[in-house]
Amino acid sequence: MNDGGQRKFAPLGTTLVIIPTYNEADNIKPIVARVRKAVPEAHVLVADDNSPDGTGKLADELAAEDDQVKVLHRQGKEGLGAAYLAGFRWGLDNGYGVLVEMDADGSHQPEELPRLLTALKGADLVLGSRWVPGGRVVNWPKSREILSRGGSTYSRMMLDVPIRDVTGGYRAFRRETLEGLGMDDVASQGYCFQVDLAWRAVKAGFHVVEVPITFVERELGDSKMSRDIVAEALWRVTSWGIGSRVAKVTKVLGKDEDPARAAKGE
Ligand code: GDD
Ligand code: MN
Repeated sequence: MNDGGQRKFAPLGTTLVIIPTYNEADNIKPIVARVRKAVPEAHVLVADDNSPDGTGKLADELAAEDDQVKVLHRQGKEGLGAAYLAGFRWGLDNGYGVLVEMDADGSHQPEELPRLLTALKGADLVLGSRWVPGGRVVNWPKSREILSRGGSTYSRMMLDVPIRDVTGGYRAFRRETLEGLGMDDVASQGYCFQVDLAWRAVKAGFHVVEVPITFVERELGDSKMSRDIVAEALWRVTSWGIGSRVAKVTKVLGKDEDPARAAKGE
């Protein structure tokens, strides 16, 4: 991972806060109001997967009253990763300079966003982190904390990423960072999307900074975490880890030449 060193970072452009939603009718209006208050210059994009509870309609009502709120209506539930990728593309196409990931349920406190954005002035990617000094989690069941800490530790070890909270979902990207991550071949659908992007950023040599956050468990609505999402994360992280180790060994053994050229004796 690049340490940022003496690099000069360009000024930040306009911020787009992307909020993916699936059945967040109780949460959408309060969270958007909090974002608008905490960072009045930022724009908000709600990426709704046709929530049966009418979240998309509530988001449309907000957008009708406020030019800085937009809604991306998607056909159906395709996972958090797919919703973010669509939101990022929309944001890049519309010229935003900073793209933020934020949950709709209040776990990621909008009031902490100014700190993340300040850190982004000297970084390519800022991760809100529960597992660095000063970071914490409020009201999480012990089982969920074990799953999250375990997931982060496992990913860190499998992938050699020097990040404490690699699964977290409160993040600020510069547009150039997203453009340099190869978003087009991201296949992760569920929450392992977060690990996927963080790992890509580290491999691409971007300067990634973790900023402590207080993650507050939701009070309204339900988590979409499921056994399938955990299973996807486990198999993907394991196969990425094995793949990258095989690639390293192959390189050490000098077997990484182009096989076609090698066959011709070049
Ligand atoms: N559009 C869309 N489609 N949104 C979704 C989907 C989906 O398929 N699945 C979840 N979301 C939205 C939720 O509506 C919410 O706004 C946000 O994504 C996070 O979902 P939660 O279900 O509240 O996630 P969580 O609290 O269990 O997990 C959080 O912490 C994880 C790390 O421990 C998230 O921040 C994850 O991204 C993170 O990996
Ligand atoms: Mn949540």
